[in-house]
Amino acid sequence: VEFVGTRLDFEKRFGETPEDALSRGEYERVDAGMGCVLPGFVDSHTHLVFAGTRERELEMKLEGRSYMDILEAGGGILSTVRATREAGGDELKEICLGRLDAMLEHGTTTVEAKSGYGLTVEDELKCLRVLNDLEDHPVRVIPTFLGAHAVPPEYKGDPGGYMELVAGEMLDRVVSEGLARYCDVFCEEGVFDVEQSTHLLERAAGKGLSLRVHVDEFVDLDGAAMAARMGCHSADHLHSSNDAGLAAMNEAGVVANLLPGTPYALMDKEYPRARHMLDTGMEVAISTDLNPNCWCENMQFVVSLSCHYMAMKPMEALRAATLGGARSLRMGGELGVLAPGAAADLVVFDVPTPHHIPYMFGRNHVDKVIKDGTLVVDGGKRLGR
Ligand code: NIG
Ligand code: FE
Repeated sequence: VEFVGTRLDFEKRFGETPEDALSRGEYERVDAGMGCVLPGFVDSHTHLVFAGTRERELEMKLEGRSYMDILEAGGGILSTVRATREAGGDELKEICLGRLDAMLEHGTTTVEAKSGYGLTVEDELKCLRVLNDLEDHPVRVIPTFLGAHAVPPEYKGDPGGYMELVAGEMLDRVVSEGLARYCDVFCEEGVFDVEQSTHLLERAAGKGLSLRVHVDEFVDLDGAAMAARMGCHSADHLHSSNDAGLAAMNEAGVVANLLPGTPYALMDKEYPRARHMLDTGMEVAISTDLNPNCWCENMQFVVSLSCHYMAMKPMEALRAATLGGARSLRMGGELGVLAPGAAADLVVFDVPTPHHIPYMFGRNHVDKVIKDGTLVVDGGKRLGR
C-alpha cells in the first residue's frame, strides 16, 4: 500500500487528481461502490491439511458424548489421522487448494496452517510439504509443525514415548527441510502435559522455530503461564485459563488467540473470556480453527460468534480477525492493516457499515478481494481458476 486517504488528501500529497494518475495507466481503478474496505482477514489458527470428514460425530455430540470421549474411543482426531495417512500428497494438495479458494472468497488473505494428522515422521513431512507447496494460490500460507497433536495408536498409553519421536527425529527432519515457521503442541489433560510440551517447545525454539500452542481448551493445566514462560507468539483456545496465567501472557506479549467456532461445534455453553482479556489490555486474535470437528472456512462467521458469544464489540472482533491475527504471527506492520507500507491485501464487503458483518450473519458479504495488489475475487467469486 502506497497511500490511504480521501481525494483531498491525495491531491495534497501528490499534487494531481486521482484521475490524472489513472490516465498514465500506472494504476487500475477498482470501484468499491457503497461497500466497506477492510484489510484481508488473517486466519491465524487452522488445521488446513486433512482428508476425510466426520459428520457422523455431530449426532454423537447431540447424544451428549464429549470431545475427549470420542477421541478416546478412536474417533475424533484419530479417525482423521487414518484418512490423512491414506491420502497422497497430490490429493491433499487439491483438497487444500479447494479450501483456500473458499477462504479467499470469504475474505481471508493469510492463513496459518498446521500439520498434525500424520503423526508419523513421513506423514507429518508429507503434510508439511503440501503446506509449503501452495505458493501459487493467492492466499499466503504460514506453515506450523503440530506433530504433537495427539498420541497416535502406535503409542497408545505412551505419550512420553511419542513425544521423544516428535521432539527428536520428527522435529529434526522438519527443521532440516525448512518446512515450518512455527512449532505447536496440544497441551491438554489426556494428551500432552506441561512437562512434555515444554520439552518440545524448548527443543523447537533451540532449532529456530517460533512457538504457538493449544492450551487450557478443556482443563486448566496452567498452559497460559507456560505460553508466557516459553515466549510463544500465540496461545490458543484459553477456555479454562486462570487470571494469573493470562496476566503473565499479557506481560510477555503473547497474543490470546480465541476460536469460538470450537465451543459452537462442541455445543459448549462456555466461551473463552474475551471481555476479561480485552479489558485487561491483552492483544486478542480470533480464528476459525478450521478442522474436521469445527469445519469453518469463514472468518465473517467467527466475527459474528465473537460478538454474540464473547461480548466483543463489532470493531473489536474485526480488529482481532485482522490485526490481532497478524500480531499473533508477528506480522503486525505488514498484514492486518490498511496503511502505507502494508501489503495490499484488501477486501470490499458489500455492506453499508462494518457492523453489518457480524450483524447479518450466515451470508457471504465479500464482493471483491485484492491480494498483493491484484484483484482475485470479484462478485464474490474467485477469478482465474
Ligand atoms: O484445535 N484441540 C485440538 N485440535 C483441534 C481439533 C482437531 C480435531 O478435532 O480434529 C482444535 O480444536
Ligand atoms: Fe486447533
